Amino acid sequence: MLSKFQARAFFLGGTVVFSGIFLILTVDTHRQVPKQTNSDQITPQVVAGKKLWEQNNCMGCHTIFGEGAYYAPELTKVVERRGKDWIKVFIKDPEAMFPGQRKMVKYGFNDEQIDHLIAFLDWCGKVDANGFPAEPPLKKLMQPSGAASATASAVGELPAAVASTIPLPPMFEQKSCTGCHRLLGKGMPGVMLPNAVTGEVVSAPPLDLVFQRKTREELIAWISDPQKVKPGSPMPKLVPAPVSPQELEQMVDFLLGLKAHAPAQ
Ligand code: HEC
Ligand code: HEC
Repeated sequence: MLSKFQARAFFLGGTVVFSGIFLILTVDTHRQVPKQTNSDQITPQVVAGKKLWEQNNCMGCHTIFGEGAYYAPELTKVVERRGKDWIKVFIKDPEAMFPGQRKMVKYGFNDEQIDHLIAFLDWCGKVDANGFPAEPPLKKLMQPSGAASATASAVGELPAAVASTIPLPPMFEQKSCTGCHRLLGKGMPGVMLPNAVTGEVVSAPPLDLVFQRKTREELIAWISDPQKVKPGSPMPKLVPAPVSPQELEQMVDFLLGLKAHAPAQ
């Protein structure tokens, strides 16, 4: 049994020691925060983006750093997952990206505001959040499953050694195509999306060898209005915006021109 004196000493001593440890750890954490958050990279754009984020209540649906509502995807690593160009096209018109299926608000942001939001999301993604989110689950879902990679390889791509020598027109990234398709070794490996009519899940095939599968007329018709060719198709209608009819011609010329690089069969 402790005497009264010993019990008091034990209590006071313990309180002092653990308060001390707590203080040291607190100071240590605060010392590390600027480095973990890259606070030197908080530009005016990032600040403006955070204001827009708050004013428009994005957290009413999304989480960031795990905080917010669980209706819509976690956005901490969204820039890494989707790329800036894809996000830009998506925020302008979310419905166009996922025809008839999804529920993201269409805000009337101008280009500058969208750039600010992306700067903010990009900064968030680079914060050292001790490994959070553990493994972006969406990124995983977007990797081809066994079945999808089988279709992807059945569909085929140009050999990497050839693909790396052909410059990819920036249009394909800027207009979000590589947010779903692989092309010349760039972009997402076959995003899987459901057909809104049949429910069948299809993958976005690599486009390197699309000249073997579609004629010029078919390509123009398809990219101009995928749902007209195949009702319920999850490929968004991107013409006339963000892809102008003239850009569509250039894209199709480029895709058909890849024929010249295909190895002899
Ligand atoms: C009413 C709910 C709602 C609000 C408010 C909302 N979103 Fe969304 N958002 C969604 C949904 C639902 C999705 C999933 C879209 C999909 O996959 O079809 C989404 C998707 C996104 C994506 C793409 C995520 C990914 O991984 O594909 C981004 C980026 C995004 N939202 C940004 C924002 C920003 C920035 C704001 C605030 C200005 C905002 N959202 C406000 C519902 C919302
Ligand atoms: C949101 C994802 C998404 C985006 C963005 C997207 N596609 Fe697609 N695309 C798909 C899917 C999914 C399919 C398969 C559609 C189906 O079978 O219904 C497809 C099919 C195609 C096909 C037919 C391929 C074949 O093998 O017959 C072409 C060509 C194509 N896309 C070109 C483009 C171009 C060019 C862009 C950019 C302007 C683009 N896609 C943007 C998802 C996307």
